[in-house]
Amino acid sequence: MKLNAFEGFLLVVGAAVLGGDFAQGAKNKFRLHDSPTFIGGVQPRHLEDPKLLSECAPNKEPETGVPAEFDGREAWKHCPSLWEIRDQGHCLSCWAVAIASTLTDRYCIHSNGTSNFRFSDQDLLGCGSKYTGWTSEICTGRGHRRLCAPFPLSGCQGGSIGAAWKYLTNSSLGLVSGGWYKSDYGCVSYKYPPCDHTKESCYKVGKVPKPECRRKCLTKYNGTYPLDKRAVTSACKFTYPADSNDTVYNNFVKKVQLEIMQKGPIIGAMRLYDSFQKFNPHDENELYKPSGDEKGDFFHAVKIIGWGIGHQNGTELPYWLVSNSFNYYWGNRGFFKIFRGKDVHVSAEINKHLSAGMPEVV
Ligand SMILES: *[C@@H]1O[C@H](CO)[C@@H](O)[C@H](O)[C@H]1NC(C)=O
Ligand SMILES: *[C@@H]1O[C@H](CO)[C@@H](O)[C@H](O)[C@H]1NC(C)=O
Ligand SMILES: *[C@@H]1O[C@H](CO)[C@@H](O)[C@H](O)[C@H]1NC(C)=O
Ligand SMILES: *[C@@H]1O[C@H](CO)[C@@H](O)[C@H](O)[C@H]1NC(C)=O
Ligand SMILES: *[C@@H]1O[C@H](CO)[C@@H](O)[C@H](O)[C@H]1NC(C)=O
Repeated sequence: MKLNAFEGFLLVVGAAVLGGDFAQGAKNKFRLHDSPTFIGGVQPRHLEDPKLLSECAPNKEPETGVPAEFDGREAWKHCPSLWEIRDQGHCLSCWAVAIASTLTDRYCIHSNGTSNFRFSDQDLLGCGSKYTGWTSEICTGRGHRRLCAPFPLSGCQGGSIGAAWKYLTNSSLGLVSGGWYKSDYGCVSYKYPPCDHTKESCYKVGKVPKPECRRKCLTKYNGTYPLDKRAVTSACKFTYPADSNDTVYNNFVKKVQLEIMQKGPIIGAMRLYDSFQKFNPHDENELYKPSGDEKGDFFHAVKIIGWGIGHQNGTELPYWLVSNSFNYYWGNRGFFKIFRGKDVHVSAEINKHLSAGMPEVV
């Protein structure tokens, strides 16, 4: 595939970024294995290409308005997957894990809790990675600003959220069911063991075996691969209104909130800074808010399940409630809160990279 076709995609690359940050990455020769970096990643310009994903349609505001606080785990008590925290292990699969996780929640939510289907992150990782990754080099920019760097990206070295949604919404594809590492649940379980995400050893990703596309269910599973596939009927993005006034910005946030309230969790991608690595909340309401002067070449995809007002050092601040893929012992039982403010630099740019998709409930 021509690399240019990927320009503008949301690249969840874990180790490489395009655009302005790319030069820095190239200069550093993507020293992924030397750097105590996190797993996961997203390219900032991905969703800005109008050809990739269309803008999410607005949802009708209920008469009661948008609440100041919303927690998907409480709103959809009948859907236990909202409480589940996955573990991506040593693999840079945050893109696949976060997407499979939102689809799982939405499947339950839209069946009113009558039907559960745990979407397999591994199926997306293995079978979607050809579509969502790169095998030769990545290039960006035009003319004298064009930059290319060899980097063998595949599922475990990152993917692309924009491309993943594109792959999934191809009606003949979709995803099968699947459980955790070594789980008997479903058709295709996760291939990479959990690791301790508070330790640097968890991020030595160089030796991770390449994910395979095995179009075959576990032998114990009472189902067949093609019949187990569940379709994803639509996907969309939210375009962050850069340099907007407060009214425009607040309307943007409200639009995102209505999507979450009425359709279920969404995907966000945040820039990874050292401060996130050190983030260790003292209480459940302490939120992550970087200082704004940090640099980070890496991005990480996560699932947003709500919002509210928390604090940093006692100062009250609005947040997004996020479900991470670093297992239960990370953050607040696997969850964390991130500053939800107009200034993208002190919210790790998460508002710039929001997208959502809807499974077909059968
Ligand atoms: C869920 O409940 C709502 C309201 O009762 C109903 O309109 C909708 O059809 C139900 N959906 C399913 C999939 O049963
Ligand atoms: C959809 O998937 C089918 C089967 O893998 C493939 O042949 C087709 O090219 C895909 N369509 C798009 C638009 O990617
Ligand atoms: C396997 O699936 C078939 C068809 O849906 C069903 O009739 C059968 O009871 C299932 N067996 C088990 C052990 O769940
Ligand atoms: C905010 O910006 C919008 C769009 O540019 C404009 O229509 C609106 O009047 C502005 N509101 C304020 C309070 O400046
Ligand atoms: C929070 O307070 C502590 C102690 O007063 C201080 O060291 C730290 O820099 C503060 N953090 C922020 C982000 O303001």
